Amino acid sequence: MLELTALFLAGVHFGVPLAYYYYAKTRWLPKPWNIKIDENYRPKVTIILPTYNEEKIIKERLENLYNQTYPKELMDIVIVDSSNDKTAEIVETWYNNNNDIKITLIREKERRGKAFALNEALRHANNDIVIIADADAFWPENAVHETTKWFSDPSVGAVSCLKKPMKQGFLGIEGGYRDYYNILRLAESKAFSTPIFHGELAAFRRELLLKVNGFPTDIGADDSHTATKIASMGYRSITPEIWVNERVPKDYASWRIRRAQHLIQHFMKATKLRVKNKTFKKILAIEAYLHAINPWILLTAAMLLVTDILLLRSIISLTLLFIGLVSLSIKEYRTWLIQQIYLIIAVMRNIETKEIVWNKQEK
Ligand code: GDD
Ligand code: MN
Repeated sequence: MLELTALFLAGVHFGVPLAYYYYAKTRWLPKPWNIKIDENYRPKVTIILPTYNEEKIIKERLENLYNQTYPKELMDIVIVDSSNDKTAEIVETWYNNNNDIKITLIREKERRGKAFALNEALRHANNDIVIIADADAFWPENAVHETTKWFSDPSVGAVSCLKKPMKQGFLGIEGGYRDYYNILRLAESKAFSTPIFHGELAAFRRELLLKVNGFPTDIGADDSHTATKIASMGYRSITPEIWVNERVPKDYASWRIRRAQHLIQHFMKATKLRVKNKTFKKILAIEAYLHAINPWILLTAAMLLVTDILLLRSIISLTLLFIGLVSLSIKEYRTWLIQQIYLIIAVMRNIETKEIVWNKQEK
């Protein structure tokens, strides 16, 4: 009996995301965007770059922004720095040599976390489109144009990117995870909007940011939650194929756990939102389920099997558990399982700390 229950739970755990993936891939992904793009649309853009101890990479990042194909007179950069290293000095020196692009440098007295920094920067952002950037992610040269063109359609409220890891990460799993994940982001975007954004490149209409009172400071996923609020209001929040490279840190596990913590905080808070669009309501519900509930179903199944083996000496349960463990040799399965473990640890860690201010990780 226990083994049947466990088998059923495992079926739900693997079945729901697989069914969702195939549904999204076959029904939504082939759809047209239903967004009217004017390739000549050139709004004024403010790029916000929050920095905490980025002295190793900041110069390269400034050059990456400087080399954007977008006209420099339509672009400015607001840097909000809370470093205790040389980041701010490097920015100042670089700016002295490259003053044909406008940079505003704000130095915070105290480090209060990324979202506080973004809100501070927002007070200095005067252009219609605001793009959030991370110091350690590199944009393709045409990223600003590829992002802004979507805003020529008034239905679009927010635009973010897709991510390619620059290194494969722990056991090569970052790459595998990203394939599954990017297809979902694209498909959801075409269906209406995706509730998961990436701070590496996240663009918003300034007026909408002001309407939602800036970025939330009580949770970590400032980017995803803001995009979700905007989508709830009836605007499209999309992640088209703008590919951003990102460095995978050495301490892969704690990096992924912190991100999982932030996503769970976001989905919990999102349950209170009133969502206008029906499709987006479904997307939000299933993504919240996948992040916050689905991992626990697998854990329950595994615990039932173990109980059954220890108390009732069940050979069937032993076999099932054995199959589950042997399958770890399959990369996709292993990737999935590790992500489930991260999500479970994330819920427990959230009780202790929300990681609003996090440790900088070596990359
Ligand atoms: N001013 C300021 N103050 N900047 C900060 C602070 C802070 O307290 N904390 C982090 N930053 C800056 C970093 O310097 C970097 O440019 C950016 O915010 C993102 O921080 P990372 O340390 O690189 O975090 P990550 O790559 O793991 O973060 C990813 O997940 C976060 C949510 O967990 C990105 O997608 C982030 O955008 C996202 O917020
Ligand atoms: Mn980063």
